[in-house]
Amino acid sequence: MEKETYIFSMDKKEIINLLQVRGKEQKQLHAKAARIRQEHVTDNVYFRGLIEFSNICMNDCYYCGIRKSNRTITRYTLSEKEILSCVDFCNTAGYSSVVLQSGERENQSFIDYITHISQTIHQKYPEMAITLCIGELHNESYQQLFDAGVERYLLRIETTNENHYKKLHPEEMSFKNRINCLTTLKKIGFQVGTGVMIGSPYQTLQNLAEDILFMKEFAIDMVGMGPYIPHQEALISATIDKEESIQLSLNMIAVLRILMPDINIAATTALQALNPVGRELGLKAGANVIMPLITPEKYRQSYKLYEGKPCLDESDGQCLTCITSRIQNIGLVPAFNKRGDSLHFKKREEITSLC
Ligand code: 5AD
Repeated sequence: MEKETYIFSMDKKEIINLLQVRGKEQKQLHAKAARIRQEHVTDNVYFRGLIEFSNICMNDCYYCGIRKSNRTITRYTLSEKEILSCVDFCNTAGYSSVVLQSGERENQSFIDYITHISQTIHQKYPEMAITLCIGELHNESYQQLFDAGVERYLLRIETTNENHYKKLHPEEMSFKNRINCLTTLKKIGFQVGTGVMIGSPYQTLQNLAEDILFMKEFAIDMVGMGPYIPHQEALISATIDKEESIQLSLNMIAVLRILMPDINIAATTALQALNPVGRELGLKAGANVIMPLITPEKYRQSYKLYEGKPCLDESDGQCLTCITSRIQNIGLVPAFNKRGDSLHFKKREEITSLC
């Protein structure tokens, strides 16, 4: 069979068209993205054990269930011992990467706490890749965390349209600062991840196409994006239906894979919240990363960013069995004991070292 030649660029109009395909054309789009995934980053699906270690947040994003003015949840921060026991589970399970995620809190004692924990993880499990997802910080804090052995950082931009950003966030939050943070993270040397919510209020197809072009232009290494899901304590409600936001999310993954063949793309939990096989659909549309929830069960209810969060009462061991068979059932390979660094990042580093 003749080898397909892939074109890794598209204009906005083409992207908008592809985001809208359904039926047979949509199947073809996903199949093409899956082929590209296989050729560039293999059939491996990498694990990132997700530890939601604190729901304390100083921000008030209108869409988010843990925003500071939601007084209906119990706030918590895991102790060092609790975090290390989660990491220990990941190590035993063969998940070679952990994601430490929390609400946003820029104060030195918090940064020092995470620094110390990162150093401990790094010393105890030198093969374990640490990813942080703790929001916008000062440049010095990012550097401090990088020096402590954190190699990857996820900061979702949520939307790359400044006006749209303003509609989703309170006035004191700044789109420009978020972009500056992403730029700083890249300069420091992190593998940088971002992402957007799909189907969020006021969003247009044009916005989504621009989001994809932004990721390409910014040369992002990892992406986590999924459907917007309302939360009962959120200040804004959904404007498109559930099925539509799933289909749009899947097409976003597929188009991004076609345009950025060697990045890591997560099949996010939000997909599974809307469809029991949502993560499998994400993998079939070109994603190559999955994030099993490792947060201790007693805290999971208190880290609900949106309604219908799945796996709230599943033990870590049950999750491991479930997720392994789900990946195998769709013909992909659960990549145990593999860090799965972003190939895109590795190439970026090689180019920098040549310059
Ligand atoms: N629906 C979907 N995703 C959400 N997030 C926050 N609230 C919601 C919601 N209601 C996502 C944001 C954030 C990530 C941690 O979770 O994109 O960056």
